[in-house]
Amino acid sequence: MSSSENVPAALRSLEELARDTLDGNWRDGYTLPSPKLYPFQWNWDSGFIALGLAYYHPERAIEEIRSMFKGQWKNGMLPHINFHRPDPNYFPGPEVWKTSGLPQGSPQVATSGITQPPVFAFIMERISALPFGQTADWKTFVREMFPKILAQHRHLYTHRDPEGEGLVYIQHNWEAGTDNSPAYDAALDAIDVSGFRDVSSLRRDLKTVDALHRPTNANYQRYIYLVDLFIECGYQDDVIARRSPFLVQDILFNSMLVRSNQALVTLAKAVGADSSEIERWNARTVAAINRKLWDEEAGFYFSYDLRHQRRIQLKTSSGFMPLFAGICTTAQRDRLAQHLTHSFVTGVGANLCTSTAVDEPAFDPVKYWRGPIWVNVNWMLHHGLRRHGLTELANGVKQQTLALLERHGMWEYFDPRTTATRPGVGLGTDAFSWSAALALDLIRNSNAL
Ligand code: GLC
Repeated sequence: MSSSENVPAALRSLEELARDTLDGNWRDGYTLPSPKLYPFQWNWDSGFIALGLAYYHPERAIEEIRSMFKGQWKNGMLPHINFHRPDPNYFPGPEVWKTSGLPQGSPQVATSGITQPPVFAFIMERISALPFGQTADWKTFVREMFPKILAQHRHLYTHRDPEGEGLVYIQHNWEAGTDNSPAYDAALDAIDVSGFRDVSSLRRDLKTVDALHRPTNANYQRYIYLVDLFIECGYQDDVIARRSPFLVQDILFNSMLVRSNQALVTLAKAVGADSSEIERWNARTVAAINRKLWDEEAGFYFSYDLRHQRRIQLKTSSGFMPLFAGICTTAQRDRLAQHLTHSFVTGVGANLCTSTAVDEPAFDPVKYWRGPIWVNVNWMLHHGLRRHGLTELANGVKQQTLALLERHGMWEYFDPRTTATRPGVGLGTDAFSWSAALALDLIRNSNAL
């Protein structure tokens, strides 16, 4: 980690903005992704945020993670939202999820009923490598958290992989984190929602963000249809696996699981625990990703629709995440890099990495996960490219990401057509926490992950 004296002036003001953003979003024990649009604590956001906090408020990093795991269910599931305090400015809130009183639910906090990509093992591994990671407080905290993160991974392997393939499925597009990716369109469109209630008037997101940047009402109706189905199934994964029209083995989710498994092995060693079970899980997942989700003809990774038994042949930035997991051969890496520099950039001088390939008909430069650039994806891409020896490309992604944040601020996502000469737009909400937190990490820590 570099000291603040080594950070160039422009980046110092970016750092200040990042810290102000995180401070402004802090709420007595946890951080909101953004006060305007997301007034609770979100799962993978919380991991990225904790990493940013570790640079200047390390005791808050501990509080952030501890607050997140207050929501952990008795069966190990880590929910995608913790509703620590009521807030009417969000839909769907706890009254829609109806998880209170579930035997397997959280005894401490009201939560949603689905999860998000696992991040805490690799976030804690990274914090462990910072100076704060050497303190007794942090080491004690790692011992506290290890069994909880292990339980989270065990939940995925025992409840989300019915055939024992090594690939876990997501049961809602919100579990992917890449919520509105066109990869889920076909599966969602196939859901018969005739006669199902219209939820458009309940939406709160459209009060603060342009509808052009957000999912459609037809999509929202399907999102809530799935939630109602989960309630009917008592949130039991085996019942949901039998009945739900939406089951996807997601490439981003499984790649992040691999990266987290690897980090969990390191944490296990640090606390003197046995890591053989984690290593067994992981070996199966790595093999299955490269067998089932890699398409040799296209030279790309795709998610798999488990319900309809078909590969989802649509190029999105999630297809690069096996790089982050460190599991690609040189030949695979080179084909991915080819796609990246040809299809995930909008033109000469423009920025990587669009969330959907520009040559996909579904590409939309301003709509949520259908084209815009996201900082967390770029951060994982940066590390994935480095891990595979593409250092120059990796540094390019990092510089472009920092330049976007410097010029435009801590937006949730960015129009990829934005360049130095074409003042572009930050999209979604401003004051977005993970953009700030990951900027701090990109500036301060050049170690590979
Ligand atoms: C959006 C993103 C999701 C994130 C949430 C809170 O819904 O798609 O990944 O967790 O916002 O920031």
